[in-house]
Amino acid sequence: MTTDFNFELLGTDGTARRGRVHTAHGAINTPAFMPVGTAATVKAMMPESVAETGAEILLGNTYHLMLRPGAERIEKLGGLHKFMNWDKPILTDSGGFQVMSLAQLRKITEEGVRFRSHIDGAYYDLTPESSTEIQRQLDADITMCFDECPALPASKERVNEAMQLSMRWAKRSRDAFVERQGYGQFGIVQGGTEEDLRKESVEKLVDIGFEGYAIGGLAVGEGQELMFQTLDYTTPVMPVDKPRYLMGVGKPDDLVGAVARGVDMFDCVLPSRSGRTAEAWTRRGSVNLRNARHKDDPRPLDEHCTCPCCKSYSRAYLYHLTKTKEILGLMLLTWHNLHYYQELMAGMRTAIEEGTFEKFVVDFHALREQGDI
Ligand code: GUN
Ligand code: ZN
Repeated sequence: MTTDFNFELLGTDGTARRGRVHTAHGAINTPAFMPVGTAATVKAMMPESVAETGAEILLGNTYHLMLRPGAERIEKLGGLHKFMNWDKPILTDSGGFQVMSLAQLRKITEEGVRFRSHIDGAYYDLTPESSTEIQRQLDADITMCFDECPALPASKERVNEAMQLSMRWAKRSRDAFVERQGYGQFGIVQGGTEEDLRKESVEKLVDIGFEGYAIGGLAVGEGQELMFQTLDYTTPVMPVDKPRYLMGVGKPDDLVGAVARGVDMFDCVLPSRSGRTAEAWTRRGSVNLRNARHKDDPRPLDEHCTCPCCKSYSRAYLYHLTKTKEILGLMLLTWHNLHYYQELMAGMRTAIEEGTFEKFVVDFHALREQGDI
């Protein structure tokens, strides 16, 4: 049996929303956090373990997968779900954003982007059409439009140019999208921190019509206050009956603030990258496991956390694994961080359901202000 792709808005508390996205590979409860599985793996985690943390959807990257191992190869091997042994939903980013940060010698034209691979220097082209086709080959449940996200700070003129180009590319991405039951495509709102450009971008995307709408071009150095200000005027003009996804965000307090402003979905490398930089996230903020104060500490990272790392391993042991660069150190920290992020999302979902989101936010900040144990 297949299901239609759709979004159920289950409830609201103020402007915070509790919902459910239905896809070909199952449902996603929102607000949701998507761990990043760039190269068909969430680094240092087995997919079974990622699911145990509570994740219901992963993010994959067109840019990395088209270069290695290639989208055609993945298609022939039965798609990304089968290839990486993840049977839940997958969203893929469209590649443009990664080209700008990773590739060499990029050239943007009306047609698309020409770049040289950061792996072997070979030339590639990505266009709205080819990006959309690659995401179909990968079998992404959610396909993202091909867009241009300008580096900030940029002049309003430059931000406007990038937004207008992204809107023309959004139309071409939509025309290239092969409709399949249970599959959807999200438009990406651009426009920097300019209110009129953001509103124009939303209108243009809604005119084209997508199954969901993402907010791009944020968390690129503008700071939390400007990001929240931008959300304050952007989410109110976005469709109520479609999921809203804030791309590349963020730290735990970014997620809480964005959920309060009506965002439903997030992705960020932070919890899985922090595992590799010895940074742990707990209810009390961030903890650097490289700090020698943990050397003799028999306590877990967080005594209230039920993840395998906190149930069985001490800070002293994590410090030792970090110092000796043992692989298990990355595995345990990544597990804890992803578990913490998923628990934070679950806590917000429950609070919205119970109408206690405002108290949740107050308690969240109060505990962080106490600092690490
Ligand atoms: N990831 C974080 N920000 C963006 C964005 O603006 N566009 C795309 N495609 N991906 C992103
Ligand atoms: Zn833990």
